[in-house]
Amino acid sequence: MTTLRTLTAGVAAGAAVLLLVASVAAGADADSDSAAPGDPLTQAVARGQTLFSLETFGGNGNTCETCHSGGGKLPGMLPDGRQLPSLINAAAIFPRFSRGAGAVVTLEGQVRQCIRGGLGGSPPPAGSPDLVALTAYLGSIALGQAVDIGGAPK
Ligand code: HEC
Repeated sequence: MTTLRTLTAGVAAGAAVLLLVASVAAGADADSDSAAPGDPLTQAVARGQTLFSLETFGGNGNTCETCHSGGGKLPGMLPDGRQLPSLINAAAIFPRFSRGAGAVVTLEGQVRQCIRGGLGGSPPPAGSPDLVALTAYLGSIALGQAVDIGGAPK
């Protein structure tokens, strides 16, 4: 009896290990799909990073980088020298209430507002590839930041 019970336990443990190995392998496949170089999300992030430092959206010559330094990862500065927080957790604190707008604003809405105000340009429509790319980029620099909608910028 003891031998049989030990054997059964051994088989069960073996099956559990096999199941674990199988699910880890399946998880690894799913991860490698989403992290493959050149996959659509990675491309959107890369496009957003380029737009951030180069695109003027037909405005006054400013880019995002003019006010938001280091790709948004460092504290920013307005042309008149006033300090701005970084954008490191921006994707984690929107939507938030904007006193200026008198409304709850999404990250996309804030980016469009900066294109209109900060760049003096024409904001691309919500959901357009350029706006998706900019918000995907902002999401990528906020990886690991605690979601804290309505929270304070860092
Ligand atoms: C002329 C300066 C200027 C430029 C250029 C600019 N911004 Fe801003 N940005 C600001 C200011 C000032 C704020 C603070 C909130 C406000 O007053 O709208 C801000 C706030 C933000 C926020 C919210 C930060 C937070 O955590 O509260 C995001 C996101 C943002 N900007 C993204 C962008 C992006 C993307 C671009 C380029 C398309 C850009 N900004 C260009 C000045 C600028």
